[in-house]
Amino acid sequence: MYSLPPLPYAHDALEPVIGVLTMQTHHDKHHARYVNVTNEIVGKTTQPLEEVVTKAHQGGDTKLFNNAAQAWNHAFFWESMAPAPKAASGALLAAINAAFGSLEGLKKEFVTKGAAQFGSGWVWLVAEGGALKVTTTHDAGLPWLGSSAVPLLVCDVWEHAYYLDYRNERDRFIGTWFDKLANWDFAARQLAGDCYQYPRPAA
Ligand SMILES: [Fe+2]
Repeated sequence: MYSLPPLPYAHDALEPVIGVLTMQTHHDKHHARYVNVTNEIVGKTTQPLEEVVTKAHQGGDTKLFNNAAQAWNHAFFWESMAPAPKAASGALLAAINAAFGSLEGLKKEFVTKGAAQFGSGWVWLVAEGGALKVTTTHDAGLPWLGSSAVPLLVCDVWEHAYYLDYRNERDRFIGTWFDKLANWDFAARQLAGDCYQYPRPAA
């Protein structure tokens, strides 16, 4: 069985950027349901969740893919935020400057692409082919399926991520998220090869 990873901070730790009610609903209800449905379908297993996602995608099992991928995406999303993040520095900042000119250049592309994502999805900072890129995925999509892209950070742009706090202002949510919560220390570790893996299922 796959567990619901606990938040790496308290539910109210991201206030006022993300309210406690959003976090309680998002983590304890939405994320929990994706994990529960994945468990209902898969049953007893020792398979890493990443393999379940990949095989469900390859086999066209939409229900399993959607739930398993959303379980993974949300776990990665919680890690992509910190209540008081350190500034980007070192190799990460150098890669950001090389790809986008500056952190502000990255923010502009991240907010623009995230706001333009039609319907539900995710906006990602990824490393691919030796350079950083901003990319979006629809619904439960992930950037690493059939790709060498390594995700560094993600922001959830499903309405459930921001509607209680920002209503229809998705661009303001993403911009504030980028300025106040983006976990550059986590992104730096992903870039250095310490790639996130979902907690292994209990046998
Ligand atoms: Fe979400």
